[in-house]
Amino acid sequence: MTDTLPKIELHLHLEGAAPPAFIRGLAAEKKMDISGIFDARGNYSYIDFWHFLKVYEAATETLKTPGDYHRLTRAVLEESAASGVIYCETFLSPDFCGGRDVGAWQEYLHAIREAAEEAERQDGIVLRGIVTPIRHFGPEKAKETAICAAETAGDWIVGFGLAGDEKIGKPKDFAWAFDAAREAGLRLTCHAGEWGGPDSVRDAIRDLGVERIGHGVRAIEDLALVDELAEHGTVLEVCPGSNIALGLYPGWRQHPVGRLFDRGVKVTISTDDPPFFHTTMAREYERLADAFDWDAGVFATIARTSAEAAFCDPATKDTILKKLESAHA
Ligand code: ADE
Ligand code: ZN
Repeated sequence: MTDTLPKIELHLHLEGAAPPAFIRGLAAEKKMDISGIFDARGNYSYIDFWHFLKVYEAATETLKTPGDYHRLTRAVLEESAASGVIYCETFLSPDFCGGRDVGAWQEYLHAIREAAEEAERQDGIVLRGIVTPIRHFGPEKAKETAICAAETAGDWIVGFGLAGDEKIGKPKDFAWAFDAAREAGLRLTCHAGEWGGPDSVRDAIRDLGVERIGHGVRAIEDLALVDELAEHGTVLEVCPGSNIALGLYPGWRQHPVGRLFDRGVKVTISTDDPPFFHTTMAREYERLADAFDWDAGVFATIARTSAEAAFCDPATKDTILKKLESAHA
């Protein structure tokens, strides 16, 4: 039932979506030994979230040129299109793409956009970018990242976010970067309520003025906050497979996404870092249908919420909304 549904993904880390075989291929070309990040079956191997971040960064070490990012973008979008994704927003970090140098970042971005245009011509999938500093790299680096974001803000770089270790620092440490991004016209999101509790969600909304929250699922621990999110229309970029793989919840039925949806929160569904979590958008939909008895009507609501929450320009949004309408007619 869910296979053929058109899907919208708002929370996808580009490097985190790299198939392990793709990263192994790059490592072999560059004569790098990164065998320690894979298990015997060739999958990414990590023991917890913090180790996952290290493995992620080690895999990213193989991505050294704009050309590598061009190939990565093609590989990732091919997988997404095969899952029925018609529109996707991906997190991009100038930390990994040119070491936060504006000129180098522009070259990486050019290569990524070129690959996205090729994928759009081939499969019809539309990609947009959200520039994302890495929280554990600290607020000073985030400022440089915000400058890269502001210099390239426009019809393709449409948002600014914050990823990385939520246990380090506070959202307000990144206020300068978020203010600069907002002034450049970028829309805002922030990872919170994944490893931090409900207060981390409150802090991100109050101190950074974000309109979407990456994950946000631990809001469920405070029902007053859940009701505030519903009332204000704050959008959650929920990644259930990621949360389960990282041990936040023991299984799909225990995941709070069903309760958040039932209580009126604007819920969207994404994969986060799909090969790390053995997932795809098609698999997320299947598991959700099984766990919560969600039918095509619920998925249509979620897809529409996602399109409305997308950071792209109104004309692009209109096109994806029309595609959704004709699929569900
Ligand atoms: N970077 C990649 N995936 C992430 C996640 N789930 N949380 C925080 N930072 C990330
Ligand atoms: Zn994420």
